[in-house]
Amino acid sequence: MQRILVYGAGVGGERLLEEMRINSEPYSLVAFVDKRIGGTLKNGVDVIFPEDIPKYDYDIIFVATLDTSVPDTLVKQFKVSPEKINHSRYFNSVEISVRIRALERFKDLCDIYNIIGSVAEVGVYQGDFAKHINRCFPESKLYLYDTFEGFSDKDVLKEENKQHVKAYSHYSNTTVDLVLSKMPNRENVIVRKGFFPDTAIREDETYAFVSLDADLYAPTYEGLCYFYPKMAGGGVIFVHDYYAPEFTGVRKAVTEFMRRTEIAISPIGDFSTISIMKPYCISH
Ligand SMILES: C[S@@+](CC[C@H](N)C(=O)[O-])C[C@H]1O[C@@H](n2cnc3c(N)ncnc32)[C@H](O)[C@@H]1O
Repeated sequence: MQRILVYGAGVGGERLLEEMRINSEPYSLVAFVDKRIGGTLKNGVDVIFPEDIPKYDYDIIFVATLDTSVPDTLVKQFKVSPEKINHSRYFNSVEISVRIRALERFKDLCDIYNIIGSVAEVGVYQGDFAKHINRCFPESKLYLYDTFEGFSDKDVLKEENKQHVKAYSHYSNTTVDLVLSKMPNRENVIVRKGFFPDTAIREDETYAFVSLDADLYAPTYEGLCYFYPKMAGGGVIFVHDYYAPEFTGVRKAVTEFMRRTEIAISPIGDFSTISIMKPYCISH
């Protein structure tokens, strides 16, 4: 069993442990680390100061704070080895939960203003955001587009930083069955496996919500061209990774689309996503 230290004895640390419990991940919590309240106990567990870390025997430190300087400080000031630090887990969990809250609030708008349509995601991977789309829109058809084999070389060739993007092309460990097994309303899910936009058969659909999360320039640009004209008035497209420094092609795609189409973009409050809402007018 992994012996863990959790950096952050507040809400962040609690949330991280809660998530590990929900996922049934075995762990043994050695101590919390917190520079403000070191020397105390939390739920019977020691809270230690960062300078005391070397006195403890552990496998990994989960950093449960959004302060991006913490891993560097742990390495430089407290001589923690970088392989023993995991910050991405907490960061990613906050990242996705904000996106889920934004999706839920958008569904509220759909109910209030009668915004009706199908829903879709381009870039599904293991279905961890798609399952929330399916949950929030139980009655809508959900179209899921992915190669289920990771990035296509055709798309990677169009990226400015091909090497960098290749380092992230680890998305082949998924299957259609795995994704479907996570869907609470599976009967409404239509999977389009293969290269997008080739898989975008011209469905005669209007969309209320679309998530573009394919990381790269080409599928993002094609996704905007394909879906935006089909959006219902008041319908929303989330474009993930617009702010991500490692995926510059996403912002390029949005900006290029903005050159040819009058749209308004707005951050949703996580670290990386923007939304585009098709304008609408209430007729009654
Ligand atoms: C970041 S992952 C998606 C993460 C997912 N939305 C989630 O919430 O976990 C990006 C996905 O985009 C897919 N992808 C990228 N380019 C594609 C293309 N042209 N056609 C189909 N799928 C593509 C990859 O296979 C990968 O699974």
